[in-house]
Amino acid sequence: MKQRSFAARLDHVSGAAVKDIISMMVDPSITSFGGGSPANESFPIAEIKEIVNQVLTDSPYELLQYGKTEGYLPLREAYLEHIVLPKGVRADVQNVITVSGGTQGFDLATQAFVDPGDVVLLESPTYLTVFNVLRKLGAEIVAVKTDENGIRIDDLEEKIQRYHPKMLYAIPTFQNPTGRTLPVERRKRIAELAGEYNLIVAEDDPYCELRYRGEALPPIKSFDTSGNVIMLSSFSKTISPGIRVGALVADHDIIEKMTDIKQCSDTHSTNLTQAICAEYLKRGLLPGHIESIRPMYLARMNAMLDGIRQYFPKNIRYTDPDGGLFTWVELPGKELPGDVDTRVIVKESVAKIKVGFVPGSPFFLDPAEGKNCLRLNFSSNTPEKISAGIKSLGDLLCEIVR
Ligand SMILES: Cc1ncc(COP(=O)(O)O)c(C=O)c1O
Repeated sequence: MKQRSFAARLDHVSGAAVKDIISMMVDPSITSFGGGSPANESFPIAEIKEIVNQVLTDSPYELLQYGKTEGYLPLREAYLEHIVLPKGVRADVQNVITVSGGTQGFDLATQAFVDPGDVVLLESPTYLTVFNVLRKLGAEIVAVKTDENGIRIDDLEEKIQRYHPKMLYAIPTFQNPTGRTLPVERRKRIAELAGEYNLIVAEDDPYCELRYRGEALPPIKSFDTSGNVIMLSSFSKTISPGIRVGALVADHDIIEKMTDIKQCSDTHSTNLTQAICAEYLKRGLLPGHIESIRPMYLARMNAMLDGIRQYFPKNIRYTDPDGGLFTWVELPGKELPGDVDTRVIVKESVAKIKVGFVPGSPFFLDPAEGKNCLRLNFSSNTPEKISAGIKSLGDLLCEIVR
C-alpha cells in the first residue's frame, strides 16, 4: 500500500475503539451494551416532523441559506432561557454559541486554549473521544484520580500545583463511562480552583437532564466567579444525536474566539436542526419529553442493576447511578498474575454468548488501569433483553472471575 505522510501530530490519534463499539451496535445478532446512544423509542418523531414543516413554512430562506457562525439566534435565546438560566448560571445571549454536538464544543474549547505541550487534566476514566481531541493538538494529558463520587479534589489540587495545567475536562453528572455524579461541594471547589489557579474548566454535561431519581445538582458553571468555566451542553441525549446540535455558555471573549475557529471548520451548524431544537424548547416540550422517557430508562436501568446483583460475581464493584445511560463494573483481580482483561473477555463474550460491552481500557490514559473494568449501557435494549444478556454475561464472568 502507498505510504502516506500524514501529519505527525496524528500519530497517536486513532478511532479504533469507537469503530469497535459501532460495529457491535450494528450487528443485530449481538445484544450490545456497548453504545452510548439514546433509545430509538425515545425520539420525539411526530413533534419533529410537525416542527420541520412549521419552521420551513415560516422561515424557508433563513433556514436554507447560510447562517451565522455563532448560531441560530432563536436557539441561542431558547437555550439560555430554558436550560442555562434555570440552572443558576448568569449569562446572556453574547455568552452562547451553538455547535455541531458537544464533541465539537470541546474541540473548539481546546483549540482556543491548548498549545502543543500544554497540560490538560482529565478525570480518570473519562469519555474516550477526548483523548483524540487532545492528542490531535499535541496536549500533554494528565489523569486525575477519582473515587465513587468522581474527581478527587485532593489529587486535583496536587496536580494543578505540580503541572500548572491550562485546562481541566470534567463530566460532572452521570459520567461517561462510570455513571458517577460529582457532589455539590466538589463542584463548588472546582469553580474556586478555576479562579485561584487561572485554570479553564470544560464542564461537559450532556447527561444532566436524564435524571431518573433524586434532585438535580447545580453545574460547576453556576459557581463560576472567574469566568474560567465553559459549560458544554448537547441535545444528543435528550432530543436526538443525529441532528448534531449542542450549545455552550462561556465568557464573551471565549465565545468570540470559538466563533473564529468554528468558521474555519464548518462555517456554522445546520440551520434546520438548530431551528428544530429552538422550536422544541420554545414550545416547552423538553421537560414533558424527559418526563415521558424517564420510566422507560428507569426500567432498563433497574433491569441491568438487578441482573448485575443477581448474576455477576459477588466480589465486584459497580455504580448504582441516578440517571444517564451507563453503569460501570470493576472486576476483582487486576493485581493478580494471569489477571482478568476485559479486552479479552469481550471477544469471548461476543463469540460465545453474543453479548457486547466496552472494555474499560480505552477510557484510561494508562489502558492497564482499566483491564478489570467494563462499561455497560442500559438505554438501548428492552428490560427483557437486558435481563437475558446480563444473565449470560454474569454466567460467563463467574466462570472467569472466581
Ligand atoms: C461526555 C460526553 N460528551 C460528549 C458526547 C458527545 O455528544 P455529542 O453527540 O453532542 O457530540 C458524549 C457522547 O457519548 C459524551 O459521553
